[in-house]
Amino acid sequence: DETKEGVKGLVDAKITEVPRIFHVPQGSLTDKKPSVSDLEIPIIDFASVHVDKASREAVVEKVKHAAEKWGFFQVINHGIPLNVLKEIEDGSRRFHEEDSEVKKRYFSRDFNKNKFVYNSNFDLYSASPSVNWRDAFSCYMAPDPPPPEDLPVACRDAMIEYTKHVMSLGDLLFELLSEALGLKSETMKNMDCLKSLLMICNYYPPCPQPDLTMGISQHSDNSFLTILLQDNIGGLQILHQDSWVDVSPIPGALVINMGDFLQLITNDKFVSANHRVPANREGPRVSIASFFSSSALPSSTVYGPMKELVSEENPPKYRDITIKEYTEGYFVKGLGGTSYLSNIR
Ligand code: SIN
Ligand code: FE2
Repeated sequence: DETKEGVKGLVDAKITEVPRIFHVPQGSLTDKKPSVSDLEIPIIDFASVHVDKASREAVVEKVKHAAEKWGFFQVINHGIPLNVLKEIEDGSRRFHEEDSEVKKRYFSRDFNKNKFVYNSNFDLYSASPSVNWRDAFSCYMAPDPPPPEDLPVACRDAMIEYTKHVMSLGDLLFELLSEALGLKSETMKNMDCLKSLLMICNYYPPCPQPDLTMGISQHSDNSFLTILLQDNIGGLQILHQDSWVDVSPIPGALVINMGDFLQLITNDKFVSANHRVPANREGPRVSIASFFSSSALPSSTVYGPMKELVSEENPPKYRDITIKEYTEGYFVKGLGGTSYLSNIR
């Protein structure tokens, strides 16, 4: 029952040593913090995207470069008002800082039982080498969100409002990404990339022994695309050309990253980059990850490299795979640093 108090419960109980279950394995300790480079991921300004054709094309060029070379970028002037960002950040923090009796009502490790689930992700990352120094709640917000009364009061309005904006930013992003491949704006949306939205609100309490554990272990995302809002503490790192690159918080910006499904359907043109969050003495840190995923699609749906992108000179790098096979593989083998995509090459 204690585990229902989450990592925050341990910190509130003033533990000074990180319990063994959180320890990263010995072997991976040495490579836990390899060189961190002083590079920065691209920052793209969307202010001019609706101005005229030429300005849109200039933005598409930048998106293309970022998607191909980094798999990540930050976006400013994305159209989501600052107060909406602040509300979801505050609402998320408010829920995590509720009395544990309130949080326990939502506790579950069964994501199919309730649409809104709070836990300390003990089993979610089953292939992860150890448990992460993180609490999280998650909710399927599209296409079938739970009735508002099923969401906690602490974050209900904020989640509903933020979802509306994330859906319209997602719409724009899939258009720009399709255009970046030289395809019609609607291509990715027609492939149902924008259909399912899973929101995960992370809470990383301060850690007394940050060298022993991770906030979130190295992984690539099980999504088409992810929109991440992080607070001003920082900690997210991306693996880029064999070194870790910090994603510095920019007030009002959002972090966009390609997921495994985009790497798959673009036949490796876009990259789904590995990323992680080391544990930190500073905190709590809050982040809100909105995943455009395949969760609401029939599990028999098949994805593979898009026909428009393959040819005799550029043959498919992957076989077709059902959502079911990919998802099962991802949770068994695809976490802890090796993308499951390598299994279907
Ligand atoms: C994630 O990769 O899902 C979370 C990243 C973060 O908290 O910055
Ligand atoms: Fe992630």
